[in-house]
Amino acid sequence: MSKTPLIELRQVTKVYGQGATALAALKGVSLQIEAGDFVAIMGPSGSGKSTAMNILGCLDSPTKGEYLFQGAHVEALSRDQRARLRRRFLGFVFQGFNLLARTSAQENVELPLLYRGESAKTRHALAAKALASVGLSSWEHHTPAELSGGQQQRVAIARAIVTEPAVLLADEPTGNLDTQRSREIMELLWRLNVDHGITVLMVTHEADMAAYARRIVRFVDGVVASDSLNPNPVGLQPGVAGAAAAPALSEAV
Ligand SMILES: Nc1ncnc2c1ncn2[C@@H]1O[C@H](COP(=O)(O)OP(=O)(O)O)[C@@H](O)[C@H]1O
Ligand SMILES: [Mg+2]
Repeated sequence: MSKTPLIELRQVTKVYGQGATALAALKGVSLQIEAGDFVAIMGPSGSGKSTAMNILGCLDSPTKGEYLFQGAHVEALSRDQRARLRRRFLGFVFQGFNLLARTSAQENVELPLLYRGESAKTRHALAAKALASVGLSSWEHHTPAELSGGQQQRVAIARAIVTEPAVLLADEPTGNLDTQRSREIMELLWRLNVDHGITVLMVTHEADMAAYARRIVRFVDGVVASDSLNPNPVGLQPGVAGAAAAPALSEAV
C-alpha cells in the first residue's frame, strides 16, 4: 500500500498576466514530497522556484493543475480554509527576512500566534521557547536593526516554527548571508528536520547549501528538469565543523 505524500503537485501551471504579456512561470510541475524529507530546490533565476514555493505555501494559486496537502485538494479549499492550512501547517522563511522593523524579536515571533488568537501569556511563552531554539534567548527585546543578518534570519525562523508547522518553506534563506552565517542557518534547518521531523523545502542557488538536503530538485524554465537523492547529506556526516556549536533545539522546541 503506498503512503499518501505530505505534499503533491500534479501538472501545476502558473501563468502571470494575460494575452500578449502572458508569461508561463510553471509549465506542468509534478512533485511528491514525503513527510520528514529535506528537499533543496535549485535552478537558474526565473525558472519558477519562487512561484512554486508560493503555491506550496498557499500564498498563491496555480492557474491549472492540482495541489494536494495530506491528500486534500488545496485548490478546492475556500480562501479562509487555505489561510487556516497556511497558519496551522506551514512556516515560511524568505531571503530578505521580512521582519517588522521597530518591533522586537519577541513581538515578531509572537505575530503568528496573535493571528491564531492565543493569549498574551501563551504567546510570550511559545515565542521565548522558539527564540531559545534558534539560539537567541537573550535577544528578545532587540529590534531587527539591532541584529546581524544571521540573527535576523534566526528570528524569522523562530517566527516560522513558533506555530509548530509540519512544513518549513524557505526561499533562498541564506541568499543575503555570508558563508559562515549561511552554514549556521543550514545547521539549524537540518536540526529542525532531523530532531523535530519538520519537512523542509528550501530554495538555494548554492550547491554547498543544497548539500545539506536529502533530495535535490532542479527547475529549468518552469519544469522539473531533474530530481535526485543526495546519498550523503552534509548534516549527516560526523564531525562537520560547527555542528556542535549549533543551538540545542531539543531543549527548547
Ligand atoms: N508576480 C509576477 N508577475 C509577473 N511575472 C512574474 C511574477 N512573479 C514571477 N514572475 C515571472 O515568472 C518567472 C518565474 O519567476 P520566479 O518563480 O520568481 O523564478 P525564480 O524564483 O526561479 O527566480 C520569471 O520570468 C518572473 O519574471
Ligand atoms: Mg526566486
